[in-house]
Amino acid sequence: MTGPSALVKVEQASRAAMNAPSARPTAGLSDGVLGDVAQRFGTPLYVFDERALAERTAFLRASLPQGVGLCYAMKANTFVLPQLSPLVDRVEVCSPGEYRICRTVGVPQGRLVISGVHKDEATVAAALADAAQPATVTIESEAQMRLVDQLAQRFGLRVPVLLRLTSANQFGLDACKVRELAGRYLRATHIELRGVQYFSGTQKTSAKRIGREIEKLDRFLASLEQECGWRAPEFEYGPGLPVAYFEADAFDERSLLVQIGRHLQEMSFTGDIVLEVGRSLVASCGTYLTSVVDTKCNRGQRYAIVDGGTHQLVYFGQSMAMRQPSCRLLRPGTPGEAGADRDHAACERVAGSPAADARTTCDHAAGDPAADTPATCDGLASAPDSERELWNVFGSLCTVNDVLAKQMPLCGLREQDVLAFSNAGAYCATEGIALFLSRDLPRVVVLDRAGEPHVVRDALRTDPLNTPSSFR
Ligand SMILES: Cc1ncc(COP(=O)(O)O)c(C=O)c1O
Repeated sequence: MTGPSALVKVEQASRAAMNAPSARPTAGLSDGVLGDVAQRFGTPLYVFDERALAERTAFLRASLPQGVGLCYAMKANTFVLPQLSPLVDRVEVCSPGEYRICRTVGVPQGRLVISGVHKDEATVAAALADAAQPATVTIESEAQMRLVDQLAQRFGLRVPVLLRLTSANQFGLDACKVRELAGRYLRATHIELRGVQYFSGTQKTSAKRIGREIEKLDRFLASLEQECGWRAPEFEYGPGLPVAYFEADAFDERSLLVQIGRHLQEMSFTGDIVLEVGRSLVASCGTYLTSVVDTKCNRGQRYAIVDGGTHQLVYFGQSMAMRQPSCRLLRPGTPGEAGADRDHAACERVAGSPAADARTTCDHAAGDPAADTPATCDGLASAPDSERELWNVFGSLCTVNDVLAKQMPLCGLREQDVLAFSNAGAYCATEGIALFLSRDLPRVVVLDRAGEPHVVRDALRTDPLNTPSSFR
């Protein structure tokens, strides 16, 4: 792909990326819509917006070089699979449960990539059962290769496999093992060596780092041809595309995608390229709604307790307490009315802005540990709605770690207000410590392209899962 024609392609790719439609042309769901949904379905609640999902997928496709495929890592969000799977080329599946979800929602087997360090025989066998279109299987160990080969022989199939190259952890295979297996299975009857897979981490914002990684992988792919005579037809790569969850995370996404596209175009590798993407595809389609159930002033600090928590809102690691997420305040009682949106300029948390104009404490006893109970603690009631105050937003988990936001400037927050956290479409509904404290799982609503809400999972009690079975 090098040489003048490749450079023309690179230029075209760059131009296409710069002209790609905005990732958020509709600027997300309005407060009126979110307030309406919160009132109708209750909180805590996940709202996933199909239109935003489709626009985001189109944006990523338009930003990447033509012909680069997309594989959705479904661990990021299983609830939008029915809407998203027709828009991507493949779906990466990492457990028997994920596989069953794919079957239930009807993702064709031939579009599945069965991945993961632990592949059980029953799931792999089921994924290969459709002889007309068996799933692709990643190979992360010799034992996995043997299993796939045995099953392929049993079913009389030729199974496409991707040899996963390790990034120096428990995943995948050492480079020498990839070479060895490639050499051994190059002419195997039941194994089709489809390509190489690589994923080394998420939230990567450095185009330079990704570029270096792509160059290294390009050299590795070339070495496979030179040393084992295997020209891999395909390279499936997880670039770990980032999402700016917190203001401090802001990065130039268009420029990052242009540079990644350029690095991919400049590879000497001439086979197909598929990008494995999770969070970057789905984060922006999701909003997490949680209601303020209590407010208090403790030692000069305002606390808002919400009905959700960090078991349901997971951005990236445990960083919620350190930085401020994108969050806005909805006021109940005015669902869907024109003008129901609150004055964002005044009331949305203004990220990065000095909180100098915000009331930092709610009484005069701030910082005085001896003054456990100040004579008066009336600061909560006294602030006018137009005035910003700093709130510590905590969930219902009864642990000091359950911090959704610290010192968040908000105007006129009251009990029953709803907080809307953006970028909650990836990992929040799937990665949280959902069973802790036996709180119910939130309802999940998907807004279809016409904006109609559909409950795709009802709220679910978790106490039966946490009760000894002999007492149930
Ligand atoms: C193998 C593999 N591919 C792709 C992904 C998706 O990563 P991301 O959500 O950063 O796009 C993951 C996430 O853990 C993964 O393990």
